[in-house]
This record gives sequence, structure tokens and C-alpha cells, in this order.
Amino acid sequence: MTTTYAVPPSAIKELEGLVTRIQANPGRMVDTASFPERVNTRAILNDLPEGMSEEDFVGVIELAMFTECATDIYASAITARARDAGAGWLATFNEDVWKPDEYMHAEPFKLILLGMGFNESDLDRRISEVQQGTFVHNGGDTPVNVTTFGMVQEYLTDHFHGLIADTLKPMLPEAAHMTYEVKRRETLHMVWYRNMTAIQVAAQPELVENVAFEIARFQLPGNSLVPELQSQAERWLQMMGADIGRITRELGRLMYQVTESPRLFGQLIMETIDKKDLVTGRIKPHHVKWVMERPGGWGYALLGEAILERTGMAFMFKKDEKPRGVPTCTRRFATACARG
Ligand SMILES: [Fe+2]
Ligand SMILES: [Fe+2]
Repeated sequence: MTTTYAVPPSAIKELEGLVTRIQANPGRMVDTASFPERVNTRAILNDLPEGMSEEDFVGVIELAMFTECATDIYASAITARARDAGAGWLATFNEDVWKPDEYMHAEPFKLILLGMGFNESDLDRRISEVQQGTFVHNGGDTPVNVTTFGMVQEYLTDHFHGLIADTLKPMLPEAAHMTYEVKRRETLHMVWYRNMTAIQVAAQPELVENVAFEIARFQLPGNSLVPELQSQAERWLQMMGADIGRITRELGRLMYQVTESPRLFGQLIMETIDKKDLVTGRIKPHHVKWVMERPGGWGYALLGEAILERTGMAFMFKKDEKPRGVPTCTRRFATACARG
């Protein structure tokens, strides 16, 4: 169950303003013209992380390339949902900024595969097969569902590209540089989607239900487009040294930044656990929720603070303890980030 989307006009204006600022200053996009025509990437095969075979490494690069080449599929799914909801700001952002930006992202990975000796027309044929595939969106359809999906997806892609670039760097600095160029755009996309989500939740706090629903049901697009590759991603992430604790903390930080309050954060965590049905046993999350929701929802505030303390994010709510009248930095930070 999710909340009916009813963001007030003042927040729509804020979202439109954010998109206008992003359009005015989208930052430096990936410049594929600056990339070399060919890079010899075979050297990396002698210096792969422990336990990673040549086939694994090719799989990693293919997963990145195939999920990046499907921009049109994601873009039409997002624009259709934005138009259905009358969210012109989201359709504009998606069509005018995000889509042209994403069009460039598959290129470094294709160059890496070509540099290993792959045949270009074979790669192009496989790319067009993926581009004609079906992307299954497992989440909801409101604008806040879409921006939450975008936030999580961009964060995970950013992280994945970062691990690839770090793996490439010692032997192939040029290929690493191209990959970092894509990674830094994913970071910016994640920040934009986070800010859009935060504005909607601030305007209609019950939307934490939708945010929780989206996080609980989240699936990377590779699951539907290239399942044979995506199913191996966890193993590959471990080989490349992914720190799952860090990913969890960073996702937790994003969830906090979306709510900007320990109480809403606590509620978001509980809703997510509840919707994911993560807990087995006699006490179910919805029993805990019932207790948490006693007058004023103070239980959520305690839970939120406890999680923030436990994950080293306590500093984020401590700013809430400042005397009234002292502005907190989060909203200003959000605006500054939106300027890229
Ligand atoms: Fe991308
Ligand atoms: Fe992106």
C-alpha cells in the first residue's frame, strides 16, 4: 500500500525551479569526442583482482555497457509516468537533461571491449538486442516513486562504475579516466534525484510510504534486460572489493537526507523493513509499527536516532538540536548541489 500522491502547488514550483536550475547548469557532460578511437585494454587481463577470471571481467564490462545502452527504454518509462501524473518538471528533466547525458555512458565500456579484441559489429548487434528488450519496473508509478528509484539506481551505478575504474586504473589509466567521467555524472544524477525526492517528502511527509515501497521493491534494470549478467553482479562486486557495509551506510545516509528528520527516517526504515518482509518470527514489523505510531510517532524518532548513532551518522541529526531560528544546512546544501 502506498500514499496517494498530492504534493501541493508550492512544492511543484520548487521542483520546477530545481529543474530550471539544472537545465541552466547541467555541468560538464561526458565528452566522447575526447576519447581515443581505440585503447589496447588486453593488459588488464594480466592484472585482474584475485579470483576474477577473464570471463568474469568481460562480464563486468558487458553488464556496465548493456545497462548503459538502454537509455531510451528507461527514458520512455520515466516520461510516461511523469506525463500520467502531470509532473511536467520530471518529464522535462528526463527528456532534456538526463536522456542526452546518459546517451554517452555506454561508450567507454564498448571501447574497453573493443580494445580486448571484441568485434564491433557483434557488439552493436548485441546492443541493439538489449535496446529492444523489456525493462520491468518493479516499483510504483508516482513521481516520488520514480525519483526514489532514480536515486537508488544512480547511487548503485555510481558505485559499480567506481569499482570498475579503480580496477582499471593501475594498468589502464586511460580507460579508468573514461570510466570515472561516466561515474561523476552518475553522482550528480543521484544528487538531483535525491533533492527531488526530499522536496516531495518535505511537502507531503506521508510519501515516506512510497519511498519505502520503492526501496523495498528495488531491482536494478539489469535484472530484466541482462539477467544472465546481473545475476553474477554480487560475486563480481565482492571480487572488486565492494564494501557492503559502506554501501548500506551510504544508502542509509541518502534515506536520511530524503527525510531530514530522525522521526521520518525511523518511519522510513520501519516501512521499508515492513514492506520487504525482512523479519521472520512471531513479532512482525507491523506489530512494531503499531507501537511506534503511538501518540506523536515518538517511537520512530528514537528508532531513527538509534540507527543514526549505530551507523556513525549521528552528526546528521545532532544539527536538529540547535536552538530554534538557526538554519540547518541541509536544504541549502541541496540547492547548492542542484547547481552542480
Ligand atoms: Fe549512466
Ligand atoms: Fe545516470
